[in-house]
Amino acid sequence: MNEAVFPQPAGEPVAQPTPAPPLGLLAELTHRCPLRCTYCSNPLQLDGRSSELDTETWKRVFSEAAELGVIHIHLSGGEPTARKDIVELTRHASEVGLYTNLITSGVGVSDDKLDALLEAGCDHIQLSLQGADAQITELVGGYRGGFEKKEAFARSVVERGFPLTLNAVIHRMNIHQVPQMIQKAVDFGAKRLEIAHTQYYGWALKNRAQLMPAREDVDRTITEVEEARERLKGTLVIDAVFPDYYAKYPKLCNGGWGARTLSVTPAGRALPCHAAETIKHLEFWYVQDHSIADIWSSSPAFEAYRGTSWMKEPCRSCERRHIDFGGCRCQALALTGDAANTDPACIKSDMHQRLGEIATTESSAVVDPGAAVYRGFRAG
Ligand code: SF4
Ligand code: FES
Repeated sequence: MNEAVFPQPAGEPVAQPTPAPPLGLLAELTHRCPLRCTYCSNPLQLDGRSSELDTETWKRVFSEAAELGVIHIHLSGGEPTARKDIVELTRHASEVGLYTNLITSGVGVSDDKLDALLEAGCDHIQLSLQGADAQITELVGGYRGGFEKKEAFARSVVERGFPLTLNAVIHRMNIHQVPQMIQKAVDFGAKRLEIAHTQYYGWALKNRAQLMPAREDVDRTITEVEEARERLKGTLVIDAVFPDYYAKYPKLCNGGWGARTLSVTPAGRALPCHAAETIKHLEFWYVQDHSIADIWSSSPAFEAYRGTSWMKEPCRSCERRHIDFGGCRCQALALTGDAANTDPACIKSDMHQRLGEIATTESSAVVDPGAAVYRGFRAG
């Protein structure tokens, strides 16, 4: 909950005080990636290599973030290890006191590179899992040989005594493999597995018809996860995020808009959440022009939906407004045309029933999984 960040009495929404510092920074170092996942939440218009921030700017961003109070940095992308300076950036993040989490596909990370990253101070590695076997991994990620490379990378991480988390994004193409993915996490020696149902932004929204799972399949995964959690106590921790298209209330997205985290794109745009660029009227500041502290306290994009004063009904007078802050602004925009509307995942939204109908219709339609649009610079 966010009351601690924005302490407010119940009643009429009021203007927000200066926000508490962010806890996390998602550094999207590059949009380049060997994989072409159909569920990717990156924007359709990817930042090209020539527009990427240089090493010194990223280092300044990391220093400013640490100074402001950020604790966790997520080195992400695209594939962050596609950056030639990834070891130098990791070292700098560690030196300024950030807990450094590398989010990687594991494809193309040699043992030498892994050793260098660990020596540079990387604290945690999160490896993506597209499926439990080569066939599904290649269908989802559009990369031949990806599964075998991921398996080898996972083993290399674990052999070095390093904690490994696997992140499996679940959708119609792989939902039948949840038990096998749990078993793979055990076989790989991972300490933690995140079962995260697809959030529909970017490429995932474009491919929603191919990705939307049926409600009964989602319900089955809940049972499968609960059973595995019990059975694997002490061996594997399983976190799960279930799809809000079938939910009653929306999720608290990113810990609340401008409340806990910020993202920086490869080209330097500072965003309140990774999908915020879909909200076209927002004015985003660039890290080349503003410090992280200024962006956090004063950027118009961060101010736009911070706290509760921007809310319309039914959120404005709802008893849950300090719990979920009206849900996801990006999903509200994508589904209702107005980012200030209640997230349709909420039962109080006029669109809620329609959302359930969309999910049911799309998940029951016969689709060719191969017809999904693979992420790529040209395809966007
Ligand atoms: Fe959350 Fe708004 Fe729904 Fe209330 S009406 S539960 S604040 S999304
Ligand atoms: Fe942008 Fe939820 S992804 S607010």
